[in-house]
Amino acid sequence: MTQVTYFGHSCFLVETSGAKVLFDPFITPNDLAKEINLDSISCDYIFVSHGHFDHVADLETLANKTGAKVIGSWELHSWLNKKGITNTHPMNIGGIWDFGFAKVKMVYASHSNSLPDDTYGGTAAGYVFQNADTCFYYAGDTALTYDMKLIAEDYKLDFAFLPIGNNFTMNAADAAKAAGFINCNTIIGMHYDTFGYIKINRELATKEFRNKGVELRLLNIGETITN
Ligand code: NI
Ligand code: MN
Repeated sequence: MTQVTYFGHSCFLVETSGAKVLFDPFITPNDLAKEINLDSISCDYIFVSHGHFDHVADLETLANKTGAKVIGSWELHSWLNKKGITNTHPMNIGGIWDFGFAKVKMVYASHSNSLPDDTYGGTAAGYVFQNADTCFYYAGDTALTYDMKLIAEDYKLDFAFLPIGNNFTMNAADAAKAAGFINCNTIIGMHYDTFGYIKINRELATKEFRNKGVELRLLNIGETITN
């Protein structure tokens, strides 16, 4: 059983195979996530797709508070180490590591990457997770890219997190196309509605996916679902 809790923007907590895995913590600056209390979040791992502010705003706080292992680019790992956060695991695109609760592959994301102080952040990334219970893809911020087809060659995804907000990432139409590339019919939308550039029409977005026979799930902030 895999549980997914939404904390707004691209931040999710996935509980699978006894591990609590947090993605791209951006909660306290998010007006839409006001009811989420950082102190209520516990996690064993924090996976970071890239270093933009809307993905790492609460990273240092949560890493220090939870002691979770932080996974990201080599550049993120070095940046955190200099800040005294040393429970980190650097990866780079194409690498696979067995974290015990799942084997995780870091995959390409077509996006830029810098840290909030303008330090170079390495290549932006997504992650594919595989264990006995589930297989899923967290895309991070990305454009539609043919590289996504490689994921479908090697994995049978149960579900995937895709950005749908447009302007900085794919829009819903491209994300629906991406669902075809990765051969996955259950998509959890992310990176939409948080701020002005990425406001979406939910009905139209859902329709883009439905037209392709794909279910788009738009979670309420604070909601937990079982996949
Ligand atoms: Ni970004
Ligand atoms: Mn972003």
